[in-house]
Amino acid sequence: MKKFENKIAVVTGAGGTLCSEIAINLAISGAKVFLVGRTADKLEKTAEKIKAAGGVTPVIFPCDVTDIASVAALAKETEALGGCDYLINGAGGNNQKAMPTITKFDPRELTGELEEGQKGLYNIDMDAFKSVLEINTMGTVIPTLELSKQMVKKGGGSIINFASMNSYCPLTRCFAYAMSKAAVTNLTQSFAAYYAPANIRINAIAPGFMVNERSKNYLGTVEDGLTKRGEQVIEHTPMGRFGEASDLIGCVNWLLDEEVSGFVTGITVPVDGGFLTLGGV
Ligand SMILES: NC(=O)c1ccc[n+]([C@@H]2O[C@H](COP(=O)([O-])OP(=O)(O)OC[C@H]3O[C@@H](n4cnc5c(N)ncnc54)[C@H](OP(=O)(O)O)[C@@H]3O)[C@@H](O)[C@H]2O)c1
Repeated sequence: MKKFENKIAVVTGAGGTLCSEIAINLAISGAKVFLVGRTADKLEKTAEKIKAAGGVTPVIFPCDVTDIASVAALAKETEALGGCDYLINGAGGNNQKAMPTITKFDPRELTGELEEGQKGLYNIDMDAFKSVLEINTMGTVIPTLELSKQMVKKGGGSIINFASMNSYCPLTRCFAYAMSKAAVTNLTQSFAAYYAPANIRINAIAPGFMVNERSKNYLGTVEDGLTKRGEQVIEHTPMGRFGEASDLIGCVNWLLDEEVSGFVTGITVPVDGGFLTLGGV
């Protein structure tokens, strides 16, 4: 019997760097996985990897997790197959348009005199700012509400949210992302307390600095050279490297499995190579 055999898991952000690996691991471990994200192509790539690895054939479900009607339609599909046991709320992220390029207030951002390509907090796109808040917070809340109904009926379930190092202490320039990821750790606690009587456990993982296509641009790589920000991150990470998606798998398996983490709820687990152990000085 495989670890997650006969379980139904929904993985949002399943076309992305981290959650594609998580979805593959669940499917190899016997779960029927619903791959959720807005772009069908990305989900299909994950499905192909699952097939190649011999995992249970997944369901590809393109869907915007901030849209209640779309997530309700997803829930109908999972219900038809027996109901959701596990939810990984991985969809999320940041948006460059919501970020200033400078790290400290400069009076020139109010007069339009910053150098070409530079912008301050007064020059960012507020719609982008709101969309970052929306995806990281409501994009976690909406699937939780829709899919937990099935967990209630089944007598329990496990939900994993995605926090960040920004949940603890904001990085420069990440205003919307940092405040929304702080909200994720907070809602993980309040929802965990609320759903405890239904035996639904809700925890979060806070990845440290993980390698993905975007991070290669703004952090660089240890092998081929780091950007200034990349150097700062590695200097501040006692293990001296960026994380890989595979670094999260053990934590996911632990938090999902009732037998080994059945009394664990409401926590956020940093998987960060020790980043949070240092104060930065
Ligand atoms: N990588 C890191 O270093 C790091 C560190 C800390 C926390 N995290 C968090 O970990 C999670 C996964 O990160 P990642 O690095 O794997 O990011 P990623 O590669 O960008 O994957 C995120 C996925 O979310 C999906 N998504 C975004 N908005 C969505 C929406 N409204 N509805 C449905 N799907 C949506 C995107 O697909 P579509 O665009 O096709 O919808 C994308 O495939 C995120 O919550 C991220 O904030 C990452």
